[in-house]
Amino acid sequence: MGKPFINILGIESSCDETAASIVQNGKILANIIAGQDIHKAYGGVVPELASRAHQKNIVPVVAEAMKIAGVRKEDMDAIAFTRGPGLLGSLLVGTSFAKAFALGLSIPVIEVNHLQAHILAHFAEEKNTAPSKKPAFPFLCLTVSGGHTQIVLVKDFFDMEVIGETLDDAAGEAFDKAAKIMGLSYPGGPLIDKYALEGNGEKFRFPHPNIPGLNFSFSGLKTSFLYFINERLKKDPLFIEQNKADICASIQSTIIDILMSKLKKASTLTGIKEIAVAGGVSANSALRKTLEAEKERAGWTTYVPKFEYCTDNAAMIAIAGYYKFLKKDFTSQRATAAARYPL
Ligand code: KG4
Ligand code: ZN
Repeated sequence: MGKPFINILGIESSCDETAASIVQNGKILANIIAGQDIHKAYGGVVPELASRAHQKNIVPVVAEAMKIAGVRKEDMDAIAFTRGPGLLGSLLVGTSFAKAFALGLSIPVIEVNHLQAHILAHFAEEKNTAPSKKPAFPFLCLTVSGGHTQIVLVKDFFDMEVIGETLDDAAGEAFDKAAKIMGLSYPGGPLIDKYALEGNGEKFRFPHPNIPGLNFSFSGLKTSFLYFINERLKKDPLFIEQNKADICASIQSTIIDILMSKLKKASTLTGIKEIAVAGGVSANSALRKTLEAEKERAGWTTYVPKFEYCTDNAAMIAIAGYYKFLKKDFTSQRATAAARYPL
């Protein structure tokens, strides 16, 4: 008789979150994340500081995940790790840790593409929670994170095609840069979301880029936002302070309009109405509301991950690892971190 349980340890260290998760037969038993406040003072992630923080955090984070899951290291069947894309030094910490730990336990390692994992977060199930409805293949996923903005045609768990992507900044970067221009702290996306709740999104207008097909561009928006703020501040030094909510709501609604117009176009072009969102920006409350409205209007079935599986986490890495484990899709101990790792 086979083993009754398959236990996968997932490790995520691609940017500034050190995370570990344990998934048993596809269900999440533990999902631990150590953030890195150190970057706040610099207004963005400092790669070298991130690597050092990962080195410090990785052992306690994995130990905590095993303790919460009640799973011993001897019970582990494989270790899944983010191989890329991301910051090379950060990825190296998770990759080296995963390989060394697996070698010591004589179990396989499984490499995971971070962007695939954001999408596969839709298949996350928690122990003791009723399973949620999963997207049916093929579906479209709008992946919006700090580093990426893509529309992905998801044909199967590991058969994904990027049909649109940003030519410059990512949507999360657009949020973070706008926040930085306003003097808000890093990461600015959640703060813009919070202040926008009280604001009028039509108060200030920003130009939409005219990019053909399903690709995006956010760098022009950043520049026009910078000029707009500088102009207004020249006339009124208190402009940001006195209009914070309206400015946040206006830049947020522009970013969402740009994302939604391409997503609608992708749905029309492919005829697919199974629509998912993933990545840090999918935590945005206005984007979630807009999707809900579009669901009614366009007859979409929409899928939005729980908040904790939108931003970077290791549960999505362990879930992706579990599905790869079922296919016996293991990785060589010779594999190394890949800063660039296309879908
Ligand atoms: O997926 P993620 O955690 O990390 C990457 O893989 O990049 O995404 C982080 C991005 C940051 O740019 C952050 O500002 C943005 O997601 N973000 C948000 C919200 N929560 C996180 N942007 C807008 N509204 C939010 N509520
Ligand atoms: Zn991410």
